[in-house]
Amino acid sequence: MVRDAATYGVEVRRWLHRHPELSFQEQETAAFVARQLREMGYDPETGIGGVYSVKAVLYGGRPGRTIALRADIDALPIQEETGLPYASETPGVMHACGHDVHTATLLAAARALKPMAAELAGNVVFIFQPAEEVPPGGARELVRAGALEDPHVDAVFGLHVDPFLPAGELSFAAGPVNAAPDSFDLVIRGRGGHGAAPHQGIDAVVVGAQVVSALQSIHSRMVNPFEPLVITVGRFQAGTARNVLAAEARLEGTVRTTSPALRERVKGLIERVVSGVCAAYGATFSLDYTFGYPVLVNDLAMTELAREAAAAAVGTEAVRRAEPGMYGEDFAYYAQERPGCFGNLGVGLPGAPQRYPAHHPKLFVADEEAMPVGIAYYLNLATRFCSE
Ligand code: NI
Repeated sequence: MVRDAATYGVEVRRWLHRHPELSFQEQETAAFVARQLREMGYDPETGIGGVYSVKAVLYGGRPGRTIALRADIDALPIQEETGLPYASETPGVMHACGHDVHTATLLAAARALKPMAAELAGNVVFIFQPAEEVPPGGARELVRAGALEDPHVDAVFGLHVDPFLPAGELSFAAGPVNAAPDSFDLVIRGRGGHGAAPHQGIDAVVVGAQVVSALQSIHSRMVNPFEPLVITVGRFQAGTARNVLAAEARLEGTVRTTSPALRERVKGLIERVVSGVCAAYGATFSLDYTFGYPVLVNDLAMTELAREAAAAAVGTEAVRRAEPGMYGEDFAYYAQERPGCFGNLGVGLPGAPQRYPAHHPKLFVADEEAMPVGIAYYLNLATRFCSE
């Protein structure tokens, strides 16, 4: 049954891979998913939360708990360079984060579970969610619109591909596994002038450089070193010519934390440091700070259940402990509402000379090897959850 489902899943995944759509623009993808579900005999609901979402429910033959399984469906603004026969047909857009695999795996699981409905005690909700990649993201809209109600969802699960985990394996960790990704836009205003007479102006490049350095001392000198924190200035734009003092510098940064208290505190620390450095040079500034997705926290009991389901699917030795990472993931909105577990599906080709990370134009996903594992995991998980 898993083999048959995997054949279908690989076919679906390759169609999706050829037809990627950017966040909040997943019209064709959502229509495709809904069509597939209808062909399986589901009655999918679309457009929940005013975004291109699809939700379908498998009602079990007996009363019981309800489990939700979620896949994200959006792609990235990346020009694909894999050279695969099923590479993206849309210039500049690519499924470079494996969301095509997530969607296809969940569709294949929905297809395989359908004939088992009568035996299930409880329900399985399938959520296909758009716009994971671009805050405020699709998950928040779905949760607000009641995607976890009707039927009331008791627990929620999802998977993300991991190109550095060999295909055939799954990994999980309890507790905080992803960070809250917040962001800031900073404009530093100095005063222009001749590059040979810096004393006559206020050099926004020098002030900006000091700000970048000073921000790094927040973690090393103002925050408990046991607390995870990343502050990265990924963009710094200033100046027009080598011999002209820059009047303005524009900095864009990302801030990653795993504790709500520190998250609030760091915003204030950044304001203080920027303000102090700018004041020292006589520069002024404006700072826009935006809170992104919440911290993704996996529930202890649900992570245990996920591990058991994974072990039943692939054997204990293929179930690994996941390394938490300071990435952001809007699955956090579901996990904030209901206990859940977000795990990793190995998609690395064993023995491949080189592996590329997610968001890379050459990302390769061993779908034929990984798909049966993801499907078997979801089947085990759903049937376990709906038999207790
Ligand atoms: Ni992703």
